[in-house]
Amino acid sequence: MQVGKAEVFSVTHPRPKITVVGAGNVGATVAQYAVEKQLGDVVLVDVIEGVPQGKALDLAQAGPVHGFDSTLVGSNGYDETADSDIVVITAGMARKPGMTRDDLLFKNAEIVGSVVEQVARRSRNAILILVTNPLDAMVQLAWKKSGFPPQRVIGMAGVLDSSRFRTFIARELNVSVENVTAFVLGGHGDTMVPLPRYSTVAGIPITDLLPKEKIDALVTRTANGGAEIVNFLKSGSAYYAPGASAVEMVEAILKDKKKILPCAAYLDGQYGTRGLYVGVPVKLGRSGVEQIIEIKLTPDEQAAFNKSAGAVRELVDKLKL
Ligand code: NAI
Ligand code: 2OP
Repeated sequence: MQVGKAEVFSVTHPRPKITVVGAGNVGATVAQYAVEKQLGDVVLVDVIEGVPQGKALDLAQAGPVHGFDSTLVGSNGYDETADSDIVVITAGMARKPGMTRDDLLFKNAEIVGSVVEQVARRSRNAILILVTNPLDAMVQLAWKKSGFPPQRVIGMAGVLDSSRFRTFIARELNVSVENVTAFVLGGHGDTMVPLPRYSTVAGIPITDLLPKEKIDALVTRTANGGAEIVNFLKSGSAYYAPGASAVEMVEAILKDKKKILPCAAYLDGQYGTRGLYVGVPVKLGRSGVEQIIEIKLTPDEQAAFNKSAGAVRELVDKLKL
């Protein structure tokens, strides 16, 4: 190093670029967890002037404490998002008490449609992760608007729903959450389908560990998990667990982990459903959805799945997709 002369460091290994659209509760939490896990550089976009800039700068100033070098940029436009590897879309309205996710349909369709147009044209090879509700219909819309292959347009809901189910199971049995795995299929709505048979504690199905009435109560609490939090918060919906869930998907993709996670994916005949995004187990890697995992459902489970897919189809039809 020459004394008295400014050193110029060049980045020889650029980090992945993650754009997060919507710098509200979920978006800011996604940005936070992503940089804390050192997954890449983050561009935060929002329509509200100053908010993405302020949050990006504030979060960047946590870098020295947390030990991350990621750059964070906030913007009200899209030029900074060019050539993103992943775009997480959280822009839109969140539920208020008494509102269903479906009440958000038309307003959020307008927002998501315009966001996707902006990002898709600047990042032709990106993988899109949708978070905005009503989730499954928004993913279908994003897929149509982007013109991307379905493998690169994915929805986050099942990771959150199954994480809620895992939390409740772990508390009920007084075991570590790390010992609990759980699967939730179907759309992200009141008709979601938690699968107790495939939910285990250290490999033991919970159907061997808990009475049916207790499992039914945990399933009901999971299906109402979002509303439970809305009722507490009053002026918004959950964001820590949703942010963490979206970031688990980002990590699986950027690190090419081939991780099996429940996500909203495009079904082309799997689970008896064609031409529709619904939550199913998928393998996530650098190409996005690399495989849809088909598990054999009982007639009751299949009926519940069909009902859930039917609810998604109704919304997609309302949007004329
Ligand atoms: P929020 O209200 O805190 O943040 C939303 C942000 O989007 C706001 O900052 C707003 O200014 C911004 N926005 C609105 N229109 C925009 C546009 N055209 N371009 C860019 N930004 C725009 O809401 P929160 O809590 O972050 O939730 C965001 C969405 O995610 C909601 O639709 C919510 O229902 C959904 N959600 C979905 C979950 C899931 O499991 N899929 C879980 C949690 C939330
Ligand atoms: C949730 O499940 C609001 O969909 C959001 O918390």
